Amino acid sequence: MAKNVLLNVTGSISCFKACTLISLLTKNDYNVRVIATEDALKFVGKASFEGLSHNKLETSMFDNDDPIAHIHLAQNWADLIISYPSSANTINRLACGLSDDLFGAVCLANNFNKPLLIAPAMNTQMFRHPSVQESLKKLEQWGAQILPCGEGELACGTTGVGRLLEPADVFEFIKKALEK
Ligand SMILES: Cc1cc2nc3c(=O)[nH]c(=O)nc-3n(C[C@H](O)[C@H](O)[C@H](O)COP(=O)(O)O)c2cc1C
Repeated sequence: MAKNVLLNVTGSISCFKACTLISLLTKNDYNVRVIATEDALKFVGKASFEGLSHNKLETSMFDNDDPIAHIHLAQNWADLIISYPSSANTINRLACGLSDDLFGAVCLANNFNKPLLIAPAMNTQMFRHPSVQESLKKLEQWGAQILPCGEGELACGTTGVGRLLEPADVFEFIKKALEK
């Protein structure tokens, strides 16, 4: 049976790569629903996420056709949850257990029962910041799978760690996590 992938996209310049990942997933018969943060939508629009996923974009717990979307998405719909790209802000928020937005509430309601994959993407100094490193460590100890970052040229013009993993590589991580 087709697996359900719940994809969180956040406000990173690499957000456009989520479109390629959605396309890869749907072409390989995965069902995809996208939860975008408010800032993700400053980089890529609703029409792209909806058109590629063939599903309505999820943005809010309150302005939602499902009155209890965070519980149903986490506990009934998703087989796997992934944050791609995952911003420093979202990583730190998740590590604090905040649930004042849809994705935070989904992660709390999931409580690591289904695989949670996090693919960080940010400037090297942001990635090396103690808050981000400690949050990643904490999330991993709680049960999340932290995906590796690539190294190389970053959008800000510097070179180093913090580059978002390419969609084809993430696709392999998703496949493996769902096989377990
Ligand atoms: C052009 C631009 C590019 C950005 N790229 C990143 C990024 O790659 N990673 C990151 O952590 N933050 C990045 N930011 C900052 C985030 O958008 C900001 O921290 C935002 O509050 C993240 O919110 P979210 O996690 O709710 O999506 C960028 C901001 C701008 C203006």
